[in-house]
Amino acid sequence: MPFELPKLPYAVNALEPHISATTLEIHHGRHHRAYVEKTNQLVAGTHLAETPLEELIALVAPRHRKAALFNNAAQAWNHGFYWNSMSPDGGGEAFGDLGKRIEADFMSFNAFKEAFHAAAVGHFGSGWAWLILDGGRLRVVTTSNADTPMAHGKVPLLTLDLWEHAYYLDYQNHRSDHVAAFLAKLANWKFAERNYQRAAHRKAAE
Ligand code: FE2
Repeated sequence: MPFELPKLPYAVNALEPHISATTLEIHHGRHHRAYVEKTNQLVAGTHLAETPLEELIALVAPRHRKAALFNNAAQAWNHGFYWNSMSPDGGGEAFGDLGKRIEADFMSFNAFKEAFHAAAVGHFGSGWAWLILDGGRLRVVTTSNADTPMAHGKVPLLTLDLWEHAYYLDYQNHRSDHVAAFLAKLANWKFAERNYQRAAHRKAAE
């Protein structure tokens, strides 16, 4: 099988009490696994089975005929990125170059948090909230369903899953509490800083 379900980068109960082990077991072990398995079924026997996941998503994104493949491949990628966007010792404030950049582009870290919270809570239906680098500027955006900024040439730095399967068992319909817990206790700013540095070096090498 060309694509594999990545392991969680922490124990299944490591994010408690903010995200329960039951939620993570189902979210990772069933939802994420299903996206990976469906992607494998859809590429089986085609040249796309040899294509790295990021390239596959970029290839099929503009081709509406392959909507099922895009949706499953993008969800497989988004979830891998999401697990790394959280950490048992996450939360607090961004630091380093990204921390400075957030203060420059959003006026303050608090203003960034308010923008992220408002976008995540205000997003209608299923999707994702992101901090992205867009043409040299940081932005908070949301995408619907499986859509991913990566498919639109943007650089994702951090994401939060807004599908109900991410929070319903722990927060029922209170998405706002889920978003607040992510920002206060889970957001992995080390991961976001690494993504930011990688993007900055790529740009410098161009
Ligand atoms: Fe999800």
